[in-house]
Amino acid sequence: MHAFRDVDYDRYTITKEYDPDVESIRQRDMIKSAAALVKSKKEQLGRDITACVVTFGCQMNSRDSEKISGVLLSCGISLTEDENADIVIYNTCTVRDNANQRVYGRLGNLGVMKKKNPDKKIVLCGCMVQETAVIEKLRESYSFVDMIFGTHNIYKFPELLVRLLQEDKMIVDVWKKTDSIVEDLPTVRKYPFKSGVNIMFGCDNFCSYCIVPYVRGRERSRKSSEILDEVRRLSESGVSEVMLLGQNVNSYGRGLEGEISFPGLLREVEKIDGIRRIRFMTSHPKDLSDELIDVMASSDKICSHLHLPVQSGSDKVLEMMNRKYSRESYLKLVGKLRKAMPDLSITTDIIVGFPGEEEADIDDTVSLVHEAAYDNAFTFIYSKRAGTPASNYPATLSDEQISSGFNKVLAAVQEEARKNVARFAGRTMEVLVEEVNEKDKEYMTGRLSGNVLVHFKGDASLTGSYLKVKLVENKGFYYIGERV
Ligand code: 5AD
Ligand code: SF4
Repeated sequence: MHAFRDVDYDRYTITKEYDPDVESIRQRDMIKSAAALVKSKKEQLGRDITACVVTFGCQMNSRDSEKISGVLLSCGISLTEDENADIVIYNTCTVRDNANQRVYGRLGNLGVMKKKNPDKKIVLCGCMVQETAVIEKLRESYSFVDMIFGTHNIYKFPELLVRLLQEDKMIVDVWKKTDSIVEDLPTVRKYPFKSGVNIMFGCDNFCSYCIVPYVRGRERSRKSSEILDEVRRLSESGVSEVMLLGQNVNSYGRGLEGEISFPGLLREVEKIDGIRRIRFMTSHPKDLSDELIDVMASSDKICSHLHLPVQSGSDKVLEMMNRKYSRESYLKLVGKLRKAMPDLSITTDIIVGFPGEEEADIDDTVSLVHEAAYDNAFTFIYSKRAGTPASNYPATLSDEQISSGFNKVLAAVQEEARKNVARFAGRTMEVLVEEVNEKDKEYMTGRLSGNVLVHFKGDASLTGSYLKVKLVENKGFYYIGERV
């Protein structure tokens, strides 16, 4: 444990004596202190202080980055996308090992920049640094990193920022767990018209391959009153689309006495004026209730899209993964959803190469992809994560077998996506216009309720509006459209 001398996990295990409301006020004071430090630094240098926040991984991380950026802006720091900034913050992911490797690679480049500019501050936060082995590696091989903080104490970023601006030695503040939620810190939004809203944190499912329960901690739900207040505030500030975020939204409210269920929460969000689209992520198939299907089917605002990770089409593998449903019950659920909502877009996540998997199991996944008729799927090669149960399971397939199995699943996904997305061809549908097309500035990019992108001729003034477009040309996963 020598490497972690200033990570005193027990001291930082928050329990009863800790009051989230008091913490919230304390952190607001810290923003004032940081702002004063930034102001004098700006005067001393005669220029702006800049920060670049780089996000790896999922929507949870994107939302956390918005909170970090909100604090930076409140302190008078300018945000930039250029990593030559005074402060660079990597908000990391560790769900698969290649996410970690990408961070190490990019950190090497930051180290070179820091040699030229010793005042540069390099910060790492997010899921990857919740692993003790990572902190050890950073201390040994990346000692130029100035600060490391984890997922549980992101709310105290103002306080950490004060320290970053004042101290020269590496600051490490990573907590093993938390049972609290601190509300009400400043945040900025990437898009003025749509926003993620955390409804719960952590995960209690312990799928045998997954590191999330270890790095994001136990499942805890926010109070519905806090969530609804946030959505109301977002609506008042011009947001019309919200994405309710949690690792397992279908178990929302569990553990909070007298709290409403997830379908109940959706009904309440739906009542908020100004909100036109509601999305949510992620649904675990084992907890998806008939009540949720009813609420979705009868709602004008809940988008016609469900991300329903299946992971595998083989009962044997599902059991080893600890997913707690069978191929049959999953497909039955898909059938029920399609009966209630014939137009629903269903997407999924699939893992290939799980230890114990054989070629026949991959064939089962391929046939499930066809039966479930997905609009899209993310396909991953299994990545061994230290500390998870599956990391001790013996591998069954060779790298070549995994790679050819992966290609088979991918081909099935692409075939289904092409076929199923084609059902919209020729229709006139509503898009929310999100941004200028990256490749061709004459085009704008909008999103259908079913999450499919449509590119159509238009200009930036349309951003944030809802428009009807005719879906003229099907490009497989997306459409070229025309305004009508
Ligand atoms: N290896 C590969 N994919 C993984 N996922 C989670 N853990 C792993 C792992 N160890 C995938 C799952 C999950 C998605 C977010 O990431 O498919 O649904
Ligand atoms: Fe990981 Fe399973 Fe929890 Fe999803 S439900 S975050 S895959 S443990």
